[in-house]
Amino acid sequence: MRTMKVTRCLPCRLVVVVASHLRSRKRTVVTVLLASFIVVVLTQKYWVQAHLQYLLEYDFAVSPTRRAGNTVRTKVPSYAVTGETNLTENNSMVDFYEPSKCPRSIASLPKYSQWFRERFKPNVKLFLDKLDGDSIGNLSFYELPFGFKDENHRFINRLLHHGNFKNLPLNLRRDKECISCAVVGSGGILNGSYAGKEIDAHDLVFRLNTAITYGRYAKDVGSRTDFYMFFPESAHLNSFSGQNVTLLYTMYKSFDVEYVAELLNINRLRISRRMDPDRLKIIHPDFFRYVFAKFLDGRAMKPTTGAIVVMLAVHLCDSVTIYGFGYDPQFSMHYYDAEFLKRTYRSTWTHDVENEKRLWGKLHQEGALRFFKRDVM
Ligand SMILES: *[C@@H]1O[C@H](CO)[C@@H](O)[C@H](O)[C@H]1NC(C)=O
Ligand SMILES: *[C@@H]1O[C@H](CO)[C@@H](O)[C@H](O)[C@H]1NC(C)=O
Ligand SMILES: *[C@@H]1O[C@H](CO)[C@@H](O)[C@H](O)[C@H]1NC(C)=O
Ligand SMILES: *[C@@H]1O[C@H](CO)[C@@H](O)[C@H](O)[C@H]1NC(C)=O
Ligand SMILES: *[C@@H]1O[C@H](CO)[C@@H](O)[C@H](O)[C@H]1NC(C)=O
Repeated sequence: MRTMKVTRCLPCRLVVVVASHLRSRKRTVVTVLLASFIVVVLTQKYWVQAHLQYLLEYDFAVSPTRRAGNTVRTKVPSYAVTGETNLTENNSMVDFYEPSKCPRSIASLPKYSQWFRERFKPNVKLFLDKLDGDSIGNLSFYELPFGFKDENHRFINRLLHHGNFKNLPLNLRRDKECISCAVVGSGGILNGSYAGKEIDAHDLVFRLNTAITYGRYAKDVGSRTDFYMFFPESAHLNSFSGQNVTLLYTMYKSFDVEYVAELLNINRLRISRRMDPDRLKIIHPDFFRYVFAKFLDGRAMKPTTGAIVVMLAVHLCDSVTIYGFGYDPQFSMHYYDAEFLKRTYRSTWTHDVENEKRLWGKLHQEGALRFFKRDVM
């Protein structure tokens, strides 16, 4: 009998214990298989951590602040907060970042909350524009939704320069000093909430995915929509035809990139007149990466559209209330159905829903938004 030195390495011990219970020929095979399995798992864990570190460290695209009398000072692109419309040398619309003048704005929260200060980057780029098309190489480090690594760069560049992609700056503020926003998810918590009036009273209303607002739903979820966020499979564009809705498009996979051509009515073969292409904004891949790395701590593979639209509102508005977010077992899955889950899918490999719910709680606690909650008897 050989004596075995007890190591502190748990996987190694596992291999030794399993091996010692097998006969010699089988032993070799099983030991090799087990050892290589463990090596793969450990390497992957290490790779994910290294990848996450990289996600956190690589600089996010930011925009310059617009100064009085200064149009485009640099070629670095910018994004809209004030909605000041101006033209670059080639008559293309560009969004500018300008700090909010509202005395009680989310943008001044970093003064009071260290947690928020460590994460919030007010001038991070929110939307793709022509200038991103020109330096698309900058977005080739990551795969979708964080970048365009494996995508056709020439195709994307042509889309962003296409005449149908107007990319009009958001005209959010008009003459208002402070703007309040409601972000409406589809959580069952809204069924019977009578929150519709309260939601519609905000300056801007953001909705996403299956945003049903007609008929008996209006009393609970409101009927106004200013921003609608979607990806191809979640689009319910017919609900908004004829309304002045700005469309916020998210891209998770190659098909979603190709689909832009259809949204912009460039692809004449599959023409769809369900929306006004003038009102289309495309979420910047760097914004995905920023939300993922800074606010979701790199959990799961990618943020949901819900996480993106809430964080977008946090960057555009002075105050935000989120309705119908965070699954609550007291209520059905969605406000428009009566489906109850036996077990919540706390986290899947692609999204981490529980982690996002924790984020809403934390943002509420830090004063960055109000997380609408309700108790039923
Ligand atoms: C655009 O920029 C020019 C030059 O700085 C400025 O005179 C003009 O007022 C700006 N237009 C708008 C709509 O902001
Ligand atoms: C404007 O057009 C010129 C020539 O077509 C080009 O060289 C320049 O890069 C363009 N500038 C911008 C900001 O698109
Ligand atoms: C691309 O990266 C270079 C180098 O970091 C930077 O100077 C340039 O402004 C970036 N372009 C865009 C559109 O962000
Ligand atoms: C739609 O809203 C934009 C600002 O968001 C405004 O400039 C435009 O005039 C509106 N159009 C209609 C038809 O109401
Ligand atoms: C909403 O709540 C009511 C009362 O609890 C319930 O009867 C109904 O099935 C729920 N769902 C929908 C879609 O109305």
